[in-house]
Amino acid sequence: MLERSGTMSNHIAPKPGAWDGEARPLFLAPMAGVSDLPFRLLAKACGADVTITEFTNSTALSREAAVSWRKMESHETEVPFIPQIFGGDAGDMATAAEMLAETADIIDLNFGCPAPKVTKICAGAALMGEPDNLVSMVDGIIQRVDIPVTAKMRLGTGQGANNALEICKSLEDVGTSRLCVHGRTLRQRYSGEADWTSIKAVVDGVETPVIANGDVVDAASAKDCLEVTGAAGLMIGRGAIGRPSVFGEIKVGLGWMKQEDLPWVQANSETWFERSPVSQSFAARRWCWDKYIEFSHQTSGLQPRWMQRHAVAFTKGLPGAKKIRAVMHGAPTPQAFADGISSFLAGTNAE
Ligand SMILES: Cc1cc2nc3c(=O)[nH]c(=O)nc-3n(C[C@H](O)[C@H](O)[C@H](O)COP(=O)(O)O)c2cc1C
Repeated sequence: MLERSGTMSNHIAPKPGAWDGEARPLFLAPMAGVSDLPFRLLAKACGADVTITEFTNSTALSREAAVSWRKMESHETEVPFIPQIFGGDAGDMATAAEMLAETADIIDLNFGCPAPKVTKICAGAALMGEPDNLVSMVDGIIQRVDIPVTAKMRLGTGQGANNALEICKSLEDVGTSRLCVHGRTLRQRYSGEADWTSIKAVVDGVETPVIANGDVVDAASAKDCLEVTGAAGLMIGRGAIGRPSVFGEIKVGLGWMKQEDLPWVQANSETWFERSPVSQSFAARRWCWDKYIEFSHQTSGLQPRWMQRHAVAFTKGLPGAKKIRAVMHGAPTPQAFADGISSFLAGTNAE
């Protein structure tokens, strides 16, 4: 059993020691409706080291539902490929994991979702209220697949004492290869601040690498989170919506890479350092948008619903962003929509 944990995968490094300023991996958080395949490839191009699919219902996957399998598509450049599944039925979870293991490098299990449609089937974060069931579910999955299994959870349900540490210790015992803890409870959903000190207690309490998640949005918060938690890596969710450049910005801010090596700086190298910070940020957003469209063409094709969501996020807060609705709704084809957003961002970044 011990052989299964970590050592079997080239993709999972062992738990590191205290953080001394050195580079640690940055993860794009799994996010339903956000982490589509072209966005995951974009996040990687922007500096994310690891990406994970949005969560997908294991019961639907085990019954071969086409819509659910669509969410599990990857591309040869997405290495490692980590699909995330959720569910309340241990048998369906193991079946889905087994089906996915044919193409996945790692399977991630969701024990963090607070959405009522998930918790009411006793899946996601609700399973933290039934730790024995959660652990035996993971044990059953690990028995059925020969690739690493990882788990993402919250601090607890928020009813009674938090139990993430206790659950993580048991998950370590059954051979879970990596853990990720979002520093909030189920009850908190997204309110309040992420409690990094409680994540540190988990980091210190297990030998399995632990990724810290919650409220990391820039280099300063990334540094603080690594200092407080000593985690094996950081996972970034909302901070990457509309701003996948956050990964490269963190790496530059922490001295892990040079600013001139950022791809959006390289693409604008002649003018970059003459631009104002605002103009630089718009140029970065345009580079990201164009790359998102390029990755869409290479993989899923242009998907108007995905594009709309990202277009709103990419242009949020920019002057004239209201024009985006007209661009979105007036475009005769998805390509015209893509070009319209690109021109809008080009216009905005001109000084
Ligand atoms: C729109 C949205 C969708 C999400 N979907 C998922 C999901 O599919 N699976 C999951 O484990 N967490 C999901 N989460 C939670 C995030 O992965 C992450 O744990 C949370 O947002 C906290 O990190 P942050 O402060 O960096 O955003 C979602 C969060 C958001 C905002």
